[in-house]
Amino acid sequence: MSESPRLTTASGIPVADNQNSISAGPRGPLLLQDFHLIEKLQHFNRERIPERVVHAKGSGAYGTFTVTHDIGRYTKAGLFSAVGKKTDTFVRFSTVGGERGSADTERDPRGFAIKFYTEEGNWDLVGNNTPMFFIKDPIKFPDFVHTQKRCPQSNLKSGAMKWDFWSRAPESLHQVTMLFSDRGTPDGYRHMDGFGSHTYSLINAAGERVWVKWHLKTQQGIKNLMADEAERLMGADPDYSQRDLFDAINRGDYPRWNVMIQVMTEDEAESWSRRTGWNPFDLTKVWPHKDFPRIPVGVLELNRNPDNYHAEVEQAAFSPSNIVPGMGYSPDKMLQGRLFAYHDAQLYRVGTNHQYLPVNAARCPVHHHQRDGAMSHANFGPATNYANVVAQGTAPYGLGHGEPPLSVGLAARYDARANEDDYTQAGDLFRLLPEAEKERLADNIAAAMAGVADDIIQRQLAHFAKADPDYARRVSARLKA
Ligand code: HEM
Repeated sequence: MSESPRLTTASGIPVADNQNSISAGPRGPLLLQDFHLIEKLQHFNRERIPERVVHAKGSGAYGTFTVTHDIGRYTKAGLFSAVGKKTDTFVRFSTVGGERGSADTERDPRGFAIKFYTEEGNWDLVGNNTPMFFIKDPIKFPDFVHTQKRCPQSNLKSGAMKWDFWSRAPESLHQVTMLFSDRGTPDGYRHMDGFGSHTYSLINAAGERVWVKWHLKTQQGIKNLMADEAERLMGADPDYSQRDLFDAINRGDYPRWNVMIQVMTEDEAESWSRRTGWNPFDLTKVWPHKDFPRIPVGVLELNRNPDNYHAEVEQAAFSPSNIVPGMGYSPDKMLQGRLFAYHDAQLYRVGTNHQYLPVNAARCPVHHHQRDGAMSHANFGPATNYANVVAQGTAPYGLGHGEPPLSVGLAARYDARANEDDYTQAGDLFRLLPEAEKERLADNIAAAMAGVADDIIQRQLAHFAKADPDYARRVSARLKA
């Protein structure tokens, strides 16, 4: 018979009795000297860390990214340097608006965050299962998220808050249309696509830049839940997507996605923008596949469940600012806002040294002069803790890793919506849906508008009508029914 390990305190001291507190007499009050009891209660009181302000409910898994096609003409990033090259990854899927214990099958976008542990540092592609987003300026993000969370007075979710916001922000219509289509309730995390959503850039060895959008196409095929089934599962199995992913990996049925890019040269960005009137850095828009076909890059496979949810999934920290040499950002205002938001959130949520936790730690040498702070367990030992321009081994690689200069405009607060077309792509998406799905879209929207004031509904119907009169007609008919 195998002996179970001997119980100790966190300091390794053997514990004599883990079932009976030290009391003054068999029925008496407890003694302060029972430090095992006190330490046990104290640690328990501190078990939770703040949940993510968005994307609080999630599931994670480790995997591998394998290059299948050479994209060396676009990027010098080492992880793409040879066909067949493998890079370890960690992925966290999530819902957005609910709390840590909320149901997995809520109508909501799904997060699809990938950490690539490359030899040149960690690249985090922190995307969603949708190629567009509700807003195009980060200054609106806290307001938008508040409408998706709870009413400050009733502590209830509020259709009125959501539709009030969306109806006054018509740039949201494209994403709203996707949210209320069948894709708003994916059947677990394995049967949905992923998107980097923003425009990023890639830089090749000659220092040339192209704009790029990242796509992940599920090899499992798209599968969505019908609204009534999603609703039933919220009660019957609120952890449906967690269970589906965990069980699939446990039985060796590893989910895979084809990783692809859309590429736009700087000249094409100019000409496409002139031709369509659309801004290639506008997150509420997509780049049509017919103009910018998807180019295959590799395969992402998830093949190992974490051993400990808190250590590896809850404490995982992704940031869109984490890119590697051979990549760059773009002028996308939303991306620019996100470059700041994530590390800042993690300093608060996980702590000053969150980047050294095993799930977050780079798997390549790390040299810098940041030191100390809470939980600094290695702290670079005796290494020098100050920068010197001629310091050996820590000299910067060179400005921007060879990124070419980017011309930018005059600093001002521009109205991001002025003269923008919020309707064509939303209408295109509506027209693309099969007849039965158009009907379900209208059903889902009408159901979500229950109890919402008429002026808000009328304002939103006007947006549907501008996207496609048939869209507004169907929703109106459902509302009347
Ligand atoms: C999580 C901010 C837009 C995808 C988060 C977190 C913050 C945040 C603060 C929590 C981070 C943490 O505690 O670790 C913002 C801001 C946005 C924005 C300010 C807009 C300006 C987006 C967009 C996407 C996205 C457009 C997708 C394209 C995600 C994902 C997570 C997340 C997937 C969860 C990452 C994980 O699994 O840990 N966001 N977000 N966010 N966000 Fe955003």
